[in-house]
Amino acid sequence: MTHESTAVQLASASSNAAASTGWWRDAVIYQVYVRSFADSDGDGVGDLRGVRERLPHLARLGVDAVWLTPFYVSPQADGGYDVADYRAVDPLFGDLSDADDLVRAAHALGLRIIVDVVPNHTSEQHAWFRAALAGDPRARERYHFHPGRGPGGAQPPNDWESVFGGPAWTRVEDGSWYLHLFAPEQPDLDWEHPEVAAEFASVLRFWLDLGVDGFRVDVAHGMVKAPGLPDIGRGAQATLIGAQPLPFFDQDGVHAIHRSWRRLLDSYEGPRIGVAEAWVPTSERLARYVRPDELHQAFNFRFLNCPWDAVALRTVIDESLAATASVGAPTTWVLSNHDVVRHRTRYGSLARARAAALLMLALPGSAYVYQGEELGLPEVADLPAEARRDPAFLRTAGQDGLRDGCRVPLPWTGDRPPYGFGPGGAWLPQPADWGGLSVAAQTGDPHSTLELYRAALELRRALPGLGSPDAGPLAWLPAPEGVLLFTRPGFACTLNSRATAVELPAPGRPVLSSAPVDTDGRTVLQPPDSCTWWAI
Ligand code: NOJ
Repeated sequence: MTHESTAVQLASASSNAAASTGWWRDAVIYQVYVRSFADSDGDGVGDLRGVRERLPHLARLGVDAVWLTPFYVSPQADGGYDVADYRAVDPLFGDLSDADDLVRAAHALGLRIIVDVVPNHTSEQHAWFRAALAGDPRARERYHFHPGRGPGGAQPPNDWESVFGGPAWTRVEDGSWYLHLFAPEQPDLDWEHPEVAAEFASVLRFWLDLGVDGFRVDVAHGMVKAPGLPDIGRGAQATLIGAQPLPFFDQDGVHAIHRSWRRLLDSYEGPRIGVAEAWVPTSERLARYVRPDELHQAFNFRFLNCPWDAVALRTVIDESLAATASVGAPTTWVLSNHDVVRHRTRYGSLARARAAALLMLALPGSAYVYQGEELGLPEVADLPAEARRDPAFLRTAGQDGLRDGCRVPLPWTGDRPPYGFGPGGAWLPQPADWGGLSVAAQTGDPHSTLELYRAALELRRALPGLGSPDAGPLAWLPAPEGVLLFTRPGFACTLNSRATAVELPAPGRPVLSSAPVDTDGRTVLQPPDSCTWWAI
């Protein structure tokens, strides 16, 4: 199959890109959590054919690209982030021809496809780890196997804890221990071993040859560990959203890997891109992942973690823009994903979620939209324990496990579960009151969140001052406490984070608003928890 012609078509189809070589600089990329998007075969689990059948929803929404979470062969100990075969599709999700069909169908609609790559760890079922467990000493060198400490080596080699709770080490039959920063079913690879780098270069080529437009790099900050695997000391353990320096995250050595991947990506017609999932302490550390010879994007999790507070939001925006500008990269904004509580629930209301979305989509750079946020879905907080699948929930006796509530299958149509998700049920129970949130119910309703996102993305394509990092600066104008007001060329954005309406000078003509605005052309009464876009 040839994908060169597709790449050319896509370059001309992308009216949103500042230049055809930089489509990703202001792209809106939609995250599909495959098992919860759409189920074509009735087993209750979303699959690749389901995604393909629902692509028209994404084209109509107006996104530029789609990121697919892992669909590779996996025992599913961590929702597919435990990969047993990086070059094959898990039968749960289809087969390779379904992946190929999906890439072609997306390209035909002008949508690019980004797939996940999981290089920090494999599944315990991967052939390499099975060989390691079978006692092959050379196979063990691809992972972190070490003797334990204390009498009889009964204590783990160091004090590291798993992100999912419990020790980051598991002991095997012969008494040695292996490292897993996540679940025991996810042994960490040793990237010092040359075969590891060679294998992943080959895996990337496999999917690039199939036509994908890029990779979301899982745990892009974790592949290299500090020499000697030093103890952390009491009180400073791992979390997915960690802020402190850790000997297994954000080590300088990871950047050599990303440079080599950039060279590989650049050797393909494209551009094909890499986006880093890197939970690092500061915007400056994050910017290092998007230096000109490294990856193209890095999720801005500081923005995702920012409270609903005008000062905090402005600070994060300024510091993020400054940090990425210092390396010549755009910022990559994100409010939600499959690992965090949905932002409607985090922020406490749909009004704020809608306002936050307009704020994000007004900022210069690219933005990621997590499936269901365009429907204003809330977190499902009351899932029964027996339905939950998050290893963090299972490993911490129910104390943690925030990640199933944002993964509940999407409502497409109808007034009762599974709301058109598929011909069978749904792998996580959907709330009984989601009928009004379905795609069908919201389509055509001018007040719906879905129509708000559609209108926002259409405007983003029409107005370069929206989104494009190359269109000109972002300038803050004076505003009352709790209010943000900024301009970009031809465009202004007002956000009121307060619980009461506030009167402001109208910066122009309103073109979109998360809540109805009342303006006489000179002043505007900006509603509580709202954001408005203005043409100026
Ligand atoms: C980040 C992924 O987003 C998350 O879902 C997964 O559990 C960890 N990385 C481990 O792969």
